[in-house]
Amino acid sequence: MQIKSDFLVIGSGIAGLSFALKAAKCGTVSLVTKREIRESATYYAQGGIAAVLGPDDSFEDHINDTLVAGAGLCDPKIVALTVKDGPARILELITLGARFSTKREGEEQRLDLGMEGCHSNRRIVHAGDFTGIEVENALVKAVLENPNIAVFENRIAVDLITHSKFVDDSGEEAVWGAYVLDKDTGKIGSFLARSTLLATGGAGKVYIYTTNPDVATGDGVAMAWRAGAPVVNMEFMQFHPTCLYHSKAKNFLISEALRGEGGILRLKNGEAFMARHHKMADLAPRDIVARAIDYELKQSGDDCVFLDMTSNSPGFIKERFPNIHENCLKFGIDMTKDLIPVVPAAHYTCGGIKTDSDGRTGLRGLYAIGECASTGLHGANRLASNSLLEGLVFADRAANAACALLDKEVEIPAIPEWQTGGAVNSDEAVIISQNWDEVRRFMWNYVGIVRSDKRLERARRRMKNLKEEINEYYWDFTMTSDLVELRNVATIAELIIKSASKRKESRGLHYNLDYPETDDEHFKKDTVLGGDE
Ligand code: FAD
Ligand code: SIN
Repeated sequence: MQIKSDFLVIGSGIAGLSFALKAAKCGTVSLVTKREIRESATYYAQGGIAAVLGPDDSFEDHINDTLVAGAGLCDPKIVALTVKDGPARILELITLGARFSTKREGEEQRLDLGMEGCHSNRRIVHAGDFTGIEVENALVKAVLENPNIAVFENRIAVDLITHSKFVDDSGEEAVWGAYVLDKDTGKIGSFLARSTLLATGGAGKVYIYTTNPDVATGDGVAMAWRAGAPVVNMEFMQFHPTCLYHSKAKNFLISEALRGEGGILRLKNGEAFMARHHKMADLAPRDIVARAIDYELKQSGDDCVFLDMTSNSPGFIKERFPNIHENCLKFGIDMTKDLIPVVPAAHYTCGGIKTDSDGRTGLRGLYAIGECASTGLHGANRLASNSLLEGLVFADRAANAACALLDKEVEIPAIPEWQTGGAVNSDEAVIISQNWDEVRRFMWNYVGIVRSDKRLERARRRMKNLKEEINEYYWDFTMTSDLVELRNVATIAELIIKSASKRKESRGLHYNLDYPETDDEHFKKDTVLGGDE
């Protein structure tokens, strides 16, 4: 099976959908996504989208907050262009039909702007605590109604297609689409395109405890890496401080917006401990709060800490956080009067495929945006609610750049079909689940919130053995989506270990017990793997 279009979009979160809508103005789009179209991290976003829209806010303040959170590694040009583009992109979403929470101020109905950690002002545009659902629904509706976009669900991209023909016939290797597994038929087809966009999201599933949905297996970064694109800053995995701690809860986030509305973190004995760790106490940058909780748990031997929202009225809690309130009730926790048990969990992949300010990667014809990309916005630690913003801003920029380059006269080269070789059906699926579990567990224990040289070396050795096993399995057995994802998770784990081992200092989300200080003289720079590293 072969499908041709001007653009191939891989992923249907905020980044992929927003790009598809814009690219469809100049060409045909095929959009592949590995589950149902809405299934994405975007859908589960709670807090909101950061943008300067309040009367007392300023671009300078949002820029400064982003730079402070990023611990010296943000690219100031990228930060400025993203922040300044924010209000226009929010307006576009509203025009598309997204309904954000508002409040009455005098005669006017204005956006109700929320507060989150490390922000100096109220600037979080939100739809209650269902922001992701509102945004995803608005974008999906527009995409499904667009005659220039063909959507393919339950299709998992396996590998990028590279070929030495490019638009100007320079002979340089370029990307011309991807091999894609149809999960319903088990067949692999080729989706060919003049430009390919990776919008595959993050890689939280590399860790055993994560807020991320199951689709977050780092596929885009792994595919781009195998095709030869440089990857940056993979050591900066963000751990969200507050994931619900309950034996029956899977991945349920307790939004930072709760601390923005006065939530206090407490130990089992009731002590509010964050003021001992940072002057901003509960609203300190996320890396600091997560590390403080990790420290307190190791000191006390407790399983979790607690978030106290009881200083707010029950009416306010139910109106502002209906999703979190309902979900907690399902687990027997009434947050209007009970403390919420929480632990940190892997949340956001700050590093990714290296791109320029228009989402171009190191490979011709290949763009990357959203969480799978590293644009320079987040540096060593992402500011809360800057991710959805980045997805919107870079979708717009990348679509403009790709449309400007589109030349419909250029022939897409002849591409060989996927070769299955001598692969046979596996009768040992248990190996896949065993390897998955093993990678995710040692990544949590050895390459988690607090690292050391010894732990990183252990992880490297474990990974080397596992990789050989997984590669053998990969080539011998018929392709399944579990196998594709396991191979990608292993690649991501290896990239994180390699990057973390190179950074012999502590900065932002990377903390190494053997080098507890920040070393600006030697390490105030990105960790680049591949390309001209
Ligand atoms: P995603 O939304 O994750 O979408 C990725 C898409 O790619 C999915 O459709 C997936 O199925 C598809 N895909 C992946 N691999 C393949 C493949 N091989 N083949 C085909 N399809 C593939 N950020 C904020 O700014 N504000 C928030 O309030 C906020 N809250 C969050 C709450 C939670 C619980 C989580 C997990 C994250 C939150 N974040 C928040 C982070 C933010 O949601 C994500 O960073 C952002 O949504 C990423 O968007 P994306 O389009 O890049 O990727
Ligand atoms: C949250 O609501 O705490 C998540 C916000 C984010 O990840 O930006």
